[in-house]
Amino acid sequence: MVWEALEAALAHPGAFYEQGARIVDVGGGTGGFAVRLAELGHQVTVVDPSPDALAALGRRAREVGVEVTGLQGDLSDLASLVEGGADVVLCHGVLEVVPDPAAALATIREVLRPGGTLSLLVAQRHAAVIARAMAGHFPQALALLADAPDAGKTGHRFTSDEAESLLAGAGFDLVSTHGVRVFADLVPGSLLDLEPGAATSLLELERVASELPEYLSLAAQLHLLAR
Ligand SMILES: C[S@@+](CC[C@H](N)C(=O)[O-])C[C@H]1O[C@@H](n2cnc3c(N)ncnc32)[C@H](O)[C@@H]1O
Repeated sequence: MVWEALEAALAHPGAFYEQGARIVDVGGGTGGFAVRLAELGHQVTVVDPSPDALAALGRRAREVGVEVTGLQGDLSDLASLVEGGADVVLCHGVLEVVPDPAAALATIREVLRPGGTLSLLVAQRHAAVIARAMAGHFPQALALLADAPDAGKTGHRFTSDEAESLLAGAGFDLVSTHGVRVFADLVPGSLLDLEPGAATSLLELERVASELPEYLSLAAQLHLLAR
């Protein structure tokens, strides 16, 4: 669903991405998204501090015969690493681990050209609270419930309101917020393996629920698009 939303944003008429967007995937890791975007003809750069992840990215890109630039670095150095800016920035699963999410978004805004698109994927706090409570870890669930993101520590999880106000605070205009994996983590894997068609039905259910604001606080992750 994240991929579909991203693909639609890139194909949006007037987005001027038909000729190939300059895309920066910050914390892009081993290139799951970056390589697919390069396959669509975009110029993709992954910035990641992990040399192992970048090596795996290089192998993955070579396997499918595309070029992806891998730069070892930290989100806070993005402006100096990415020359000429970006049409699209992906920041998937990274805001959770940086010490100051607000500063991170401000840095991303610096490299994004006016009207460019940010694809932001973050862990959603209440799903983690529910997971801990269901496992019987009630004190941890309670601690997490009150654990609003704070500059100076890492391991953040975000509610949709928190993620959206962080984006607004960094000067972004929100385009959409979708819930990702509303049910998938709650369903026993054995059920999906044993019942014919269950995986397809679950996917359809996830697709519909991802659009409904009522389900955002159950989603494991939030996918936000902003300009
Ligand atoms: C959870 S993984 C997400 C990988 C990928 N974006 C994805 O969605 O599959 C987090 C990635 O962020 C990278 N990372 C951690 N701290 C970072 C930082 N300060 N700046 C940029 N990337 C960072 C890690 O090396 C790792 O590849």
